Amino acid sequence: ARKVIIDCDPGIDDAVALMVALFDAELDVVAVTSTAGNVPADQAGRNLQGLVERLDPPRRPRIGVGTGPKTAPPVDGTDLNGTDGLANLELVVSSLHQRHPAEKLICDEIRAAPEEVTLVALGPMTNIARALQRDPMIAAQIGRIVIMGGAYNGIGNVTPAAEFNCHFDAMAARTVFKSRTTKTLIPLDVTRQAAFALDLLDQLPNIESSPASQLLHQLIPFVYRSHRQSLGIEGIYLHDAVALAAVLHPEFFEMEEMAGDVETTGEITLGATVFDRREHRAWATNMEVASKIDVPRVQDCVIQGLRAAIRG
Ligand code: BDR
Ligand code: CA
Repeated sequence: ARKVIIDCDPGIDDAVALMVALFDAELDVVAVTSTAGNVPADQAGRNLQGLVERLDPPRRPRIGVGTGPKTAPPVDGTDLNGTDGLANLELVVSSLHQRHPAEKLICDEIRAAPEEVTLVALGPMTNIARALQRDPMIAAQIGRIVIMGGAYNGIGNVTPAAEFNCHFDAMAARTVFKSRTTKTLIPLDVTRQAAFALDLLDQLPNIESSPASQLLHQLIPFVYRSHRQSLGIEGIYLHDAVALAAVLHPEFFEMEEMAGDVETTGEITLGATVFDRREHRAWATNMEVASKIDVPRVQDCVIQGLRAAIRG
């Protein structure tokens, strides 16, 4: 199985991605780490631990908790995800579970399996930037970083120009973009194309004794309502689950080699991703960016993943 670390800010779409990852036989989720974003750092840590405990996957990942950036713009994801980030479920966490500092755990796991670990970034990139700063040698030892973030065509979500994860800690995003790592970016442009229709739950078995099934029946109806109320759409974006599908099946996406950076000081463009698309490109290529997505295959991949999680 392929080793992965999932860094996230749960968040309902983060939770769905986690479910798929934790029950996928092809993946070995060695660690999960939390960061501030959709909710503050403390809440994100509780949500992550609560999700792992409630889902009780066959292999328990180690859990790392991050502290979040010192300053962040005054935005969060509570309108779409609920005040606690997870449909106001207020998941219970046991005090027994051992929690590690996120950036140290990331460094340790990468050091333990050089070039083998895929780092999946589903939230603001604070922990990953800190790990790279703490131990610069790991850059060459990370197999690949798959990032849900950015807006290739410049149409953001949290602001007109910026995507949430890149906006929340723009400096961190820039640090990761500029690091000497192999990167795949799954931007909003493609995750938005794979919005899930209202019948998502109907496509899944409803097994009351299954923790994943229970959780999905609590999270998904909430997120449908919030998408209708906040965004005026009949359907849901599961950005992070789409990014996870790119970890499992990169062949469902068309990738382009690009040179990308993040705006860190702009008055109205903070966190905007900028790609050198000039005829004579001067910036060096530093990532592949998903430019096309096979929507039915990606949605099917997420649905199959959720079925596996429900079966346990
Ligand atoms: C990203 O921002 C968060 O709100 C979501 O969980 C996702 O990771 C989408 O812009
Ligand atoms: Ca997220």
